[in-house]
This record gives sequence, structure tokens and C-alpha cells, in this order.
Amino acid sequence: MSDKEKLYEGKAKILYKGSRPNTIIQYFKDDATAFNNVKKGTIAGKGIINNKITELVMTRLGQIGIATHFIERLSDREQLCHAVQIIPLEVIVRNTVAGTMAKKFGIEEGTRLSRPIIEFSLKDDALGDPIIPENHILALEITTDEEMIEILETTAKINDFLRGLFAGIGLELIDFKLEYGRFNGEDGEQYLVLADEFSPDNCRLWDFETREKMDKDRFRRDLGGEVEAYQEVARRLGISLETEDK
Ligand SMILES: Nc1ncnc2c1ncn2[C@@H]1O[C@H](COP(=O)(O)OP(=O)(O)OP(=O)(O)O)[C@@H](O)[C@H]1O
Ligand SMILES: [Mg+2]
Repeated sequence: MSDKEKLYEGKAKILYKGSRPNTIIQYFKDDATAFNNVKKGTIAGKGIINNKITELVMTRLGQIGIATHFIERLSDREQLCHAVQIIPLEVIVRNTVAGTMAKKFGIEEGTRLSRPIIEFSLKDDALGDPIIPENHILALEITTDEEMIEILETTAKINDFLRGLFAGIGLELIDFKLEYGRFNGEDGEQYLVLADEFSPDNCRLWDFETREKMDKDRFRRDLGGEVEAYQEVARRLGISLETEDK
């Protein structure tokens, strides 16, 4: 790792400069945080699992025509991606009520919504990632109108696809968080692409039959068994966790 230029160290990943121009390497750590960094710990092997789950999800989304930053997985914990300018929004999709929404409205967790919700938080740790309405995003010019339309359409497509993907392996996709970025194409045009990661760190997955939580809530809520839950999600997706690094 030492020969690579470190660009940024976040809570779950380290970004390094990629070997090709305008690329970055995402290195997935085992570190886990919750409640805006108040709770800290590690989940053994999480980085390897999240790297491989993200690879699978980004690859499948690419196959259905969704532009992503993903280029290729390089090793157990690293993947090469196009460098993008991250739009400072957490794009949150909810299919079933859980977490902050359950608390805020006093609704029982697990209540299925009559239609999916897409909502936004401003990516700003110092402010605690506050929820931001769409009209604020547009008035503050965080996105253009065109970008907002594309974000909403693409996110809805991703939700439909991933709900089906996870339902097929007995998992209910309760909610999840996405990040988008602006990618400068070789043709001089700017494109909206899906960036960051998709893993049990950023979504809720419940077993359809047992209603068992198979995601970071196991860590957040001290339920135990987080390593096994992440491994089980990978296993059901058909991902091998055999190490490939020498
Ligand atoms: N293709 C990309 N180009 C540039 N930055 C990216 C790309 N994909 C993801 N990122 C950014 O890299 C960082 C990944 O690190 P990590 O997920 O650990 O951050 P974090 O601690 O969660 O902080 P943040 O609140 O910024 O997400 C994030 O800030 C994410 O927005
Ligand atoms: Mg992050």
C-alpha cells in the first residue's frame, strides 16, 4: 500500500490515487462507526466482504445500463474506480419503515410503505448529515434540475432492480443509501454516475422468513453476530470469500 498516494481516509474506506489518470482506488477497512462516529469498532473481514458485494452490485447495475464509477476489483480490499466529484448528498431509499423514520413518526419498524420514498441528507459530518428537502437542494444549487431528475429516475431504477436481486436470495431490502458523482467523460461531457459503495454498511437487509437483521444494525444495536451476518449476505449472493492475496 505504501507506494500509493493517499488522497483521503474516511470512516470505512481509504482513497488512494489510481494507476491510470482520473482514477482512484477504494481500500475497504474493517472499521465500523455508527451514530455519526460516536460508536466505533471493527467487524473482522468486513472490508473484504463489502469490497466484493460492492463489486457485484456495481457490475450488475452496469449490466442493466446504469453508469457507475466502478472499473475493476484489484484485490481483497481494493477496487479501481473513476475519480468523480462527489455530489454532497446521501440519497436514501426506503421501502419499509426502520431506523430514524420509525423513531421520528412513532411507526413500528418493519411496516411496509405503500410506495418507496427517496429522501436526501446533506453529506456534512460536522452538521450531522441533516435531512435536506429537494427544494432546498435546488435553491442552494447543490444539483441542477436536470441532475435531480436523473438522480430520482436512476435511484428508482436501482431500487427496483436491487429489491428483486435481494428478494431472490430471501432478503428484504428495507432501505439503503447511495452517493452520486460527476464524471468528466473523454468526450468533454459531464455524466452523473453512481459512486461510493453498496454494502450491508449502507443498507438494511432482513431475512424474509425470520425477519433477522443482516446488516450494520447488528453493530449499531449491539445484537452480535455481525461478522456472520455479513458473511451470510455474501454467501447468498454467491460470493467467494476465499482470499486471493498472496
Ligand atoms: N469515485 C469516487 N471519487 C471520489 N470520491 C469518492 C468516489 N467514491 C467515493 N468517494 C468518496 O470517498 C469517501 C469514502 O470513504 P468513506 O466511505 O470511509 O467516507 P466516510 O467516512 O463515510 O465519509 P463521508 O461522510 O464523506 O462518506 C467518501 O467521502 C465518498 O464520498
Ligand atoms: Mg462513507
